[in-house]
Amino acid sequence: MEYKIAVIGGDGIGPEVVAEGMKVLDAVSELYNFELRWIEYPHGGEHYLRTGELMSEETLKDIERCDAIYFGSIGDPRVKPGILEQGILLTLRFYFDQYVNLRPVKLLEGVHTPLADKQPGDIDFMVVRENTEDFYVGIGGSVKGGKSHDTLELARKLYSIRFNLDIEGDADELAYQIGVLTRAGCERVMRFAFELARETGKKRVTSVDKANVLTYGYGFWREIFTEVAKDYPDIETEFNFVDAMCMWMVKNPEWYRVIVAPNMFGDIITDLGAMIQGGLGLAPGANINPEGVSMFEPIHGSAPKYKGKGVSNPIAAIWAGAMMLSSIGEKPAADTVLRAIESVLRAGKVRTYDLGGSSKTSEVGDAIAGAIKI
Ligand code: NAD
Ligand code: IPM
Ligand code: MN
Repeated sequence: MEYKIAVIGGDGIGPEVVAEGMKVLDAVSELYNFELRWIEYPHGGEHYLRTGELMSEETLKDIERCDAIYFGSIGDPRVKPGILEQGILLTLRFYFDQYVNLRPVKLLEGVHTPLADKQPGDIDFMVVRENTEDFYVGIGGSVKGGKSHDTLELARKLYSIRFNLDIEGDADELAYQIGVLTRAGCERVMRFAFELARETGKKRVTSVDKANVLTYGYGFWREIFTEVAKDYPDIETEFNFVDAMCMWMVKNPEWYRVIVAPNMFGDIITDLGAMIQGGLGLAPGANINPEGVSMFEPIHGSAPKYKGKGVSNPIAAIWAGAMMLSSIGEKPAADTVLRAIESVLRAGKVRTYDLGGSSKTSEVGDAIAGAIKI
């Protein structure tokens, strides 16, 4: 069996960590007799500065032929914040309608958590982050001099929406950003969370929002969650306000099983989740379209100050690679990769600076590839 994988290493430490992931996945594919054909794309800050291209329709169509996308990270200090993030990463998520961003928060053995008195079994839950809506839709504008008319359009696989906005007032200058949630968009990600709870036996789904203040959007989110929950009477449910959830994730992480979150809160709580599982160097994510092309990436960014130094931790990227194997149908190989990561962490000899060691990125990749065995 051969799988075509689009690889976008991206910026900063992205290409370095993805290279280690490819090394490990190549090692495991040999053992399980399948082949990964890597198709590399140069997209990122450097490519943008050189050619002006972010992500063209043609490239997207080309990537569509692949079985999955393996992504490093995007973000270059020479480019204004948002251009690459929106023009490349969010474009991929939206184009391929990857409406679930699945982020496991799991403390592995041999990893130090900054939370006092917590053990590996205490930190083990899944965040299901909505990945196509909310404040990420990129709709907004700014007004100078009190008056404007804006037509703002949102085109998705599920729908297209047009806002006609007349703004009048005496504020000298203002900016606004509109978040959008749709019933269909919320329902599908919530159903994914409930199904995941069933499949994994993690039988509690916690919904995150700020329905006490952002009543229109997140009140709507709550209403839909309540309805969807009725189809899953075997799963316990609860609501958390996002501020309180940040506190509970630190105080009692063992409470959580599956968390379902709107896009922006999901982004924020998963960096917190990363830290309680040992740091950004250990936190993987999967952008999933269950019927389409999915994309796998570490949740960290391009960490520009470590670019080219070969010291960053590749484990988040390698773990994301394992999630990719599982998604394309190579679950035993995925489990083997995870066991190899765990055995290297447990042994504690080869580790990067963020875990208190001094090993190079490539030494961690070598150690994990070397620990691959059935
Ligand atoms: P970041 O995640 O890049 O890095 C924050 C800090 O976390 C780093 O300085 C480093 O100390 C640590 N860190 C991150 N990854 C690590 C690793 N693999 N090993 C060891 N330590 C690691 O966040 P930032 O500094 O806020 O963002 C930098 C750029 O990345 C920005 O342009 C941002 O927009 C972008 N970004 C991209 C993605 C993505 O591509 N998915 C995600 C987050 C941020
Ligand atoms: C992440 C990142 C992205 C996000 C940015 C870079 C667009 O922070 O993957 O968590 O906010 O989703
Ligand atoms: Mn983030």
